[in-house]
Amino acid sequence: MLDPADPAFARDPYPYYARLRTQGPAVRVALANGTHAWFVTGYEHVRAVLADSRFSNVPPPGAGRPRPDSPAQRARACLARHMLNSDAPDHTRLRRLTSAAFSPRRVDALRPRIEQLASELIAKAATRTQNGAVVDLVDAFAFPLPVLVIGEVLGVPEADRDDLRKWTYRVGSPADALPAGAVDEAWIRLHAYFTELIADKRRRPGEDLFSALVHDVTEGGLDDGELLAMAFLLLFAGYETTMNLLASASLLLLTHPGELAAARRDATRWTAVVEEALRHASPLEATTWRRTTQEVNLGGSGLIPAGASVLAVLAAANRDPAHFPDPDAFRPDRYRPAAGGTRAAPHAAFGHGPHFCVGARLARLEAAVALPVLFDALPGLQLAEDPGEIPYRPGLLVRGPRRLPVRRA
Ligand code: HEM
Repeated sequence: MLDPADPAFARDPYPYYARLRTQGPAVRVALANGTHAWFVTGYEHVRAVLADSRFSNVPPPGAGRPRPDSPAQRARACLARHMLNSDAPDHTRLRRLTSAAFSPRRVDALRPRIEQLASELIAKAATRTQNGAVVDLVDAFAFPLPVLVIGEVLGVPEADRDDLRKWTYRVGSPADALPAGAVDEAWIRLHAYFTELIADKRRRPGEDLFSALVHDVTEGGLDDGELLAMAFLLLFAGYETTMNLLASASLLLLTHPGELAAARRDATRWTAVVEEALRHASPLEATTWRRTTQEVNLGGSGLIPAGASVLAVLAAANRDPAHFPDPDAFRPDRYRPAAGGTRAAPHAAFGHGPHFCVGARLARLEAAVALPVLFDALPGLQLAEDPGEIPYRPGLLVRGPRRLPVRRA
């Protein structure tokens, strides 16, 4: 039986996934909450599942944690009507509206602003690390930067970010890991927050992407419910993930000083550092749940019945030794082949198929801009805690260190 809230599993789920991978393309796993799910862990099979329309993204009616017919359940149902929870043709329409806003041109234009926000945050952290004080890099850097960036994209006021962090963290955590009622309350608060934000954008549209989406309504774009859900998805997808990428990449560099020194000597290495961090420490451990619309045979023992819950485990696919030699090693060079060598397979950290991450370019840009800023401003940074003691976020969806205490050498 697998308990996703078990701290030891949260910190290092890889040996477990490696065992599952040897058991077949899809393995039925009993979960601590009494349910069962089919885990897909091999690179090829994960990609096959994510590109196969027999695996639906639409959650079954009544899915989710709040009690049926409660205000929390109603709030959750509204916020959950987003593109990640939909299949074609709904998905195609919702995705088209959003991806135009995340065009390479619009994303790349954010670079100077990201640089500025990162420099400001890191300057504050640098002041605090004077005199040997310990600073938590998650709190000081990895969390606030993506929130500020996505907040700008969406036009979310800065003063609201702490509340949003609290609520999104709760709705993304296993309910049994939190005090009773905490998850329900968070759904209700998020619903109220985004309802108000939409009203505000109607009254006073800004330059942000979200204002543009609100104003598309009159031209047959998104209805009110879809807007609400879109706001929630962009916020949720936009910062929890990037926060974990920044935190995990920082941790990997602090524990691999040779790789850090090489990247600091040669700035062209940062892109490969980011790709390898995405592979090695996939910020989304698994995609969102899929459900089989019919029986699917993945070969071998992988005969999945109709109506089954399926988890495509990205973290496991990204450590598949058939595609990534020495998969547990952090080796950015695999994404920087020497002349004549071959580049490693593309990792699956941003998913695959129709739901491939809309924000991949933005996430890569944030990391490639912010990590050099961090390590240039604080060259002698050291971990202030044994890396084996650092707690990880519980659950199967999002993975990353909950804190990252550092001090200057
Ligand atoms: C390191 C950071 C990130 C990672 C690892 C990541 C990963 C992913 C993955 C794996 C999926 C597919 C999920 C599935 O198939 O169930 C996804 C979807 C999505 N991501 Fe990201 N993401 C990141 C950052 C972002 C950012 C910055 C945004 C933008 C604001 C974003 C917006 C989205 C959206 C809207 C979807 C849904 C796409 C769809 O359903 O078609 N993500 N992301």
